[in-house]
Amino acid sequence: MIALASDHGGFEYKERVKPLLDTLNLAWKDFGTDSEESVDYPDFSHAAARAIQLGECDRGIFICGTGIGISLAANRHHGIRAAACQIPEAARMSRLHNDANVLALGQRLIDWETAEAMIRLWLETPFEGGRHERRIRKIEIE
Ligand code: RB5
Repeated sequence: MIALASDHGGFEYKERVKPLLDTLNLAWKDFGTDSEESVDYPDFSHAAARAIQLGECDRGIFICGTGIGISLAANRHHGIRAAACQIPEAARMSRLHNDANVLALGQRLIDWETAEAMIRLWLETPFEGGRHERRIRKIEIE
């Protein structure tokens, strides 16, 4: 189950992610927002991140204007590794080396074609494990 979250700045892409995940036969759960009306990104980021923490969702795709605010909020949750990515290689590496369980995108920074390519790549790339396992364990501080 993929958790989806956005603020108003990422709403359009969040809506576009749904049919994309449908074509990939991946289930999703939408934690809002529901329109382009101005809202606060932490509200939606926290709700979706919590669902991943609780195991109700496996990973997430979070979108705001830049991908920055929504990833900062998500990363306050233990066990959440949200990567704000702007190019496909960053999305790929966030899986390979960082085992990112949230991909954060900025709708105001990247065109939809790039976002779609990044989402596909991120979803299909496995975690490499090995020495990276030790490093991601060291991210948690308490
Ligand atoms: C909203 O205007 C904007 O600040 C938000 O979408 C995001 O870019 C914050 O990091």
